[in-house]
Amino acid sequence: MKKEIQIKKEFKKKQFQLVRGMKDILPEEQKYWLHIEDLVRRLADKYSFQRIGMPIVENTELFKRSVGTATDIVEKEMYSFFDKGNENISLRPEFTAGIARAYIEHGMLNLPQPVKLYALGPCFRYDKPQAGRYRQFNQINFEIIGEADAICDAQVILVAYQLYQQINLQVVIQINSIGCPDCRPEYENVLKDYLKKYRSKLSEVSGKRLSKNPLRILDSKEKDDQEIVKDAPQQVDYLCEGCREHFIQVLEYLDELEIPYALNSKVVRGLDYYTRTTFEIWPVEGEDGRMVELGGGGRYDGLAELIGGRPTPAVGFASGVERLVSLIKERKAPVKEPESLDIFLAQLGIEARKRAITLFEELYEADIKVTEGLARRGLKAQLELANKLGVKYTLILGQKELIDGTIMIRDMEGGIQEVVDAKKVILEVKKRLEKARVNVNELNKVSAIGPT
Ligand code: HAM
Repeated sequence: MKKEIQIKKEFKKKQFQLVRGMKDILPEEQKYWLHIEDLVRRLADKYSFQRIGMPIVENTELFKRSVGTATDIVEKEMYSFFDKGNENISLRPEFTAGIARAYIEHGMLNLPQPVKLYALGPCFRYDKPQAGRYRQFNQINFEIIGEADAICDAQVILVAYQLYQQINLQVVIQINSIGCPDCRPEYENVLKDYLKKYRSKLSEVSGKRLSKNPLRILDSKEKDDQEIVKDAPQQVDYLCEGCREHFIQVLEYLDELEIPYALNSKVVRGLDYYTRTTFEIWPVEGEDGRMVELGGGGRYDGLAELIGGRPTPAVGFASGVERLVSLIKERKAPVKEPESLDIFLAQLGIEARKRAITLFEELYEADIKVTEGLARRGLKAQLELANKLGVKYTLILGQKELIDGTIMIRDMEGGIQEVVDAKKVILEVKKRLEKARVNVNELNKVSAIGPT
C-alpha cells in the first residue's frame, strides 16, 4: 500500500516530455507551415491536382507488397501492431501505397485518365532520430496515376521544382532511370558481378543486400561502399529500347522547361515499387555543406498490379515538410507573415465585459482586424498586451463609458485618447484606420522618391 502511494506521488511529480523522434510544431513556427500549405494548394490548383485524404493506418501487407519486404522501411521502420480485432495494421510510412489502394478501391480507373491527386499529412518511420529525420514527419505528395507518357514525369518534377523555387530555395534534380522488369534483371546481374569482386570490403548491410537488393548498395551512406560503387556499371547503359526512349524524353522536357538536373546513377531510392524514372531533389549546397535530400519520387508503373489492381502506370513525388521548414529558416527565405491586428478591445468591470463580448463580434463582422483582452482584469495588463501585439488603436470600455454610452479610443503610438459615441464606434474606428493607411502610403511614396 505504502509503495503504491509512493508511486502515485512520484507519478504526480513526473513532467512528461515528447516521445523520442517526435516534434511539436509551436505557434511561432506555424507561419512556415501555413506558407508551405498555401503554396501546395496553389500549385495543385494550377496543375489540376485534386486533394485526397486517407487514414493514417493501412494493412501492414499493403506496405510489404508495395514498398517491399527487403527495404529499410518495411524491415525496420514501420510502426506495426495488431489491433483489438487481431488485424495487422501499420501507421503509414509514406503515402503512395495508400493513394494507389484508394485509386483501385474507389474505381478511379473509370475516371478520365490520368487522375492527379495530392495529399498532405503525417507519416511514421521508426528511424534513428537526427537532424531532418523524425519518427513522425509530414509529407507533401503529388501523384499522376493512369498515364505512362514521359510528359507526366516531367510535370511532376516541374511541380516539385516550382514548390522549392517559390520558397526561394535553389535545388537541383538528381535524376536516374532504373529500367523496368524487362531490362533491370540483366543490369542487376552485371552489378552483382561487379560488386562480388569487392564482397569482403562491403559494409555488413550492403553485403547482405548483395543477393536480394543489389541496387540499394548504390545509394549506401557508408564511405567504403561509396568508394566501391563509384566505378560500378550504370543502369542507363543497360536500358531496353522503351526505357531509354522514355528517359530521353523526360530529359528533353526538363531541358525545355529549363529545370536544372544532374544525371545521377546512384539515385535508386529506398522503395521497391519504382520503375524507369527515379529522382531526388537536392538543395544547392548551403553554407553548412549539408546535403540531405528534400524530396524524391519517380515512376511506379507496376505498383497497382502488386496490390491487386489492373496494370496502371503512375508517377509522383513527395517532399518532407520539416526539411523544407528548417531550410527556409536557415536561409531566411521570405514567408507570408500572419496578418497584423489593428484593434485591441480592452474592458474594465463585469458589465463592460458583458458588452465587450458582443462588441467584439460586431467589430469582427465589420471586417476590422480585432483582438481582445476579455480574460484580463487590469487595464495596465491589457494595454501591455495591446502594445506587444502592435495594434494601432485600443478601444477601452469601462463602467463610466457604459453609463455614458461612449467608448474611449487610444492611439497606441501617441498615447492620445478620445471619447466617441458608442453607437458610432465602428465608423470612428474605420475612419482612423483609413487615415493611418493613407499616411503610410504617402510616407512610402516619399521614401520611394528619395531625398530631393
Ligand atoms: P521517400 O524518399 O521515402 O519517398 O520520402 C520522401 C521525403 O520524405 C524525403 O525526401 C524526406 O524529405 C521526407 N522524409 C522521409 N523520411 C523522413 C523522416 N524520417 N523525417 C523527416 N522527413 C522524412 C517516398 O515516401 C515516396 N512515397 C515518394 C513518392 C511519391 N514516390 C512516388 N510518389
